[in-house]
Amino acid sequence: MRIAVVPGDGIGAEVVPAVLPALDLLGRAFGLDVRYDVFGWGADEWLATGTGLPDGALDTLRDEYTAVLLGALGDPRIPDMAHGRAILLGLRRGLDLYVNYRPIPLPSGDTIQLFRENTGGLYSGVGGTVSRGTVAQVAIDESVYTRDTVERFTRYSLARLRELGCRRAVLVHKANAVPNTGRLWREVYYREAERFGDVETSDEYVDSFCYHLVRDPARYQAVLAPNLFGDIISDIGAALMGGLGLAASASVCPETGQALFEPVHGSAPDIAEKGIANPYAAARCLVLLLDHAGHAEPARLLDRCLDEAMRTDARTPDVGGHGTTHGFMAEVTNRLAAATGDGRSAA
Ligand code: NAD
Ligand code: IPM
Ligand code: MN
Repeated sequence: MRIAVVPGDGIGAEVVPAVLPALDLLGRAFGLDVRYDVFGWGADEWLATGTGLPDGALDTLRDEYTAVLLGALGDPRIPDMAHGRAILLGLRRGLDLYVNYRPIPLPSGDTIQLFRENTGGLYSGVGGTVSRGTVAQVAIDESVYTRDTVERFTRYSLARLRELGCRRAVLVHKANAVPNTGRLWREVYYREAERFGDVETSDEYVDSFCYHLVRDPARYQAVLAPNLFGDIISDIGAALMGGLGLAASASVCPETGQALFEPVHGSAPDIAEKGIANPYAAARCLVLLLDHAGHAEPARLLDRCLDEAMRTDARTPDVGGHGTTHGFMAEVTNRLAAATGDGRSAA
C-alpha cells in the first residue's frame, strides 16, 4: 500500500499526523507493506506559490499510489476557498472518484449507508459571473448531470448497498422545483433498480427527507444523493452520530480502484492549534482505507480500539471528554499494541 498523505490546513494538519502511528503499528503487526509520502498541498503553498495541485500530480497519484489520505482544506486567509476547489475538487474530478461513501453509524447501532455522487451536479464547475461589482451582476452555477454519470453512480451504489446488507434504499432529489436533473435521476434510479429486485426502492424530496432523517433516522438503511444534497446530508448525519469529529468518508472510482479518504469535517479554524481536534474521523478513514485494500482484520481491530477509546475520558471535548488529539490516539495505539503484542508503540 502506497499512500499519498495530504494533511492540508487547520486541524487537518493536526489529526492526520496523529493517526499515522496507528497505521504504522498495524502495518508491523499484520505484516502489511504500508508506505506513505507526505505532500504539502494546502493554503501555505497556495499563498506562497499560487499552486494548488502541482502539474503532473494526478499522473503521479494514478501511477504510484493506491490511496490518498487527506485531512482538510480551508484557511481564513483564502475566504473564497479557491485552493480547496483546486486541490480537493481537483482530486475528486481528476481521479474520477465518482462515489463518495459516507457511512452514518447511529447511536442505536444501525448504520445508514450514504452514497453521494461526487463529480457532477452543482460541483461541475460550469458557470460564470458577468458585470461583477455592478447592480447588473449575473452569477450562474449550473447543475450538470449526464445520463451516463447518474447511471454509473446509481448502479454501483445499489450493488454496494446490497453487499452491505441493506434491503431498502431511498433516492433524494428535488424534482418538484428542479425538474430536469430531478427527472433524469428518478428515471435512471428506477431503471437501474430493476436489476436489484430484492432491494425496496423509493424516492423522497430532499426537504422532507431531512425532516424525517432528524426525527426518525431508523427509517433509512441506504441513501443515494446528488452531489450537493449528499454534502449537506453528510453533516446532518455527523450530527446524528455525535459530531463532525466522528464522520469519515471514502471517495472511490470503482473501475480503477483509486480512492481518497478524508473526514467529513473541514479545517475547523475555531479550534485549530489548540491540540483538541478529534482525530476519530481521520482514524476511521484508516478503517475505510484498510477495508478498501482488503485488510479486514486490522480494519476491525482499529475500529474496535477506536470505539473502546471513545468510551474513556481520553475522548476529546467535542464529544464530552477532556482529552487531546494526541492523548486520544495514544489511548488507541496502546490498545492496538496490547491486542497485537507490539511493544514499540506504547506512547
Ligand atoms: P468545519 O467542519 O471545519 O467545522 C464545523 C464545526 O465542527 C466547528 O465548530 C468545528 O470546531 C467542529 N469540528 C469539525 N471537526 C472537528 C473535529 N475533528 N474535532 C472537533 N470539532 C470539530 O466547518 P466550517 O467551519 O464550516 O469550515 C471551515 C473550513 O473548512 C472552511 O474553509 C471550509 O470551506 C472548509 N471545509 C473543508 C472540508 C474538506 O476539506 N473536506 C470540509 C468542510 C469544510
Ligand atoms: C466536504 C466539503 C467539500 C464539499 C468542500 C470543502 C468543497 O464540504 O467534503 O464535505 O463540498 O464536498
Ligand atoms: Mn461538506
